[in-house]
Amino acid sequence: MRVLAIENSCDETAVAIIENDKLIHQELASQIAVHNLFGGVVPEIASREHLRILPLLYTKALEKTGLKLEDFDAIAVARGPGLLGSLLVGVAFAKGLSFRSQIPLIGVNHLEAHLLAAGLEQEIEYPCIGLLVSGGHTHIYRIENPFNFKLLGRSIDDAAGEIFDKIGKSLNFPYPSGKYINLLAEDEIVQERIFPLAFVKNDNLDFSFSGLKTAVMQYIAKNPEAYSEKLLTEEEIYLIKNCENTSNFKNRLLKNICAALNETVAEILAIKVERALKREDGIKSIILAGGVAANSIIRKRIEKLAFDNGKNIHLPSLDLCTDNAAMIGYIASLLRKAGYYHDLHLDAVPRGQQIVFDYLQENI
Ligand code: KG4
Ligand code: ZN
Repeated sequence: MRVLAIENSCDETAVAIIENDKLIHQELASQIAVHNLFGGVVPEIASREHLRILPLLYTKALEKTGLKLEDFDAIAVARGPGLLGSLLVGVAFAKGLSFRSQIPLIGVNHLEAHLLAAGLEQEIEYPCIGLLVSGGHTHIYRIENPFNFKLLGRSIDDAAGEIFDKIGKSLNFPYPSGKYINLLAEDEIVQERIFPLAFVKNDNLDFSFSGLKTAVMQYIAKNPEAYSEKLLTEEEIYLIKNCENTSNFKNRLLKNICAALNETVAEILAIKVERALKREDGIKSIILAGGVAANSIIRKRIEKLAFDNGKNIHLPSLDLCTDNAAMIGYIASLLRKAGYYHDLHLDAVPRGQQIVFDYLQENI
């Protein structure tokens, strides 16, 4: 089974080739540098960039692997959720390829693709609890099998990645800021909790991060030395990280804020995952997925939680956490092997709308 996969739901354009559930080749172009100028993704610019770059990546992927369009068994594309303009570019491109070649088309749920990304590297043990933490989502699922995801809880306001990005923006960190908050936090020992464990004193599996965001913003406002006047570069963040001069007040303050924030988010996530484990029967493993799953502190915390509860943990490698086309191709490969496909009626589904399991099925 060889799948050509396309991802362009937000600000990464990617084309991947999956063969027998393994990644053979990927071309990925990030638009981060363009959007960084605006402190966040500008949807209109994102769509135009996808339109410009996607055909180039497709051609490059075929040239480098020596494959032709006819060599594929399925053409997969992220159909949502995401920015509608961006999704439409990928869906239209995939439909064109499918129409021309008559190769089956498979529209993929981007969130489910994130959750199963680890399957490219290890065998996932089902049923599992899946925690998806990205820039747009904080969702917790029971995953029965690759085609059955039950949403158990979700953020009722900001996503985990969103608060990293918003707090980072207020500190004048480059966009997206999660990676930089992680960098400054990772060598620090958190002595005391200065931010609240928001929305855990209840009996549900939902998250709420807006109160935590406000608490951190207020703390920063009371400690204005943390602010930088101009946008920091990646090099400057590394200089802060590697600064061993403990009397540099600003650097100490920034590291403390990042470490405390990171530890608090990790703890909130762990509390809810542990609650889900207690409630759901027969769970064999935990999956941590999405861009924020690249966070070293959250990875360690969820790994420990899995160990303490006698469950296996599936942690995708860092490249598979953030947006990529490999994960789109992997889940599409599983779907196609079960006979699922879409025809040219496939729709792109923007963020906030439900994606239904609307595959057609044939015996293959
Ligand atoms: O899954 P993703 O690539 O895009 C979607 O949102 O679908 O996730 C991007 C998010 C951003 O919010 C970014 O700040 C966050 O993942 N992120 C991190 C780290 N690396 C990326 N957050 C915390 N720590 C990281 N190391
Ligand atoms: Zn994503």
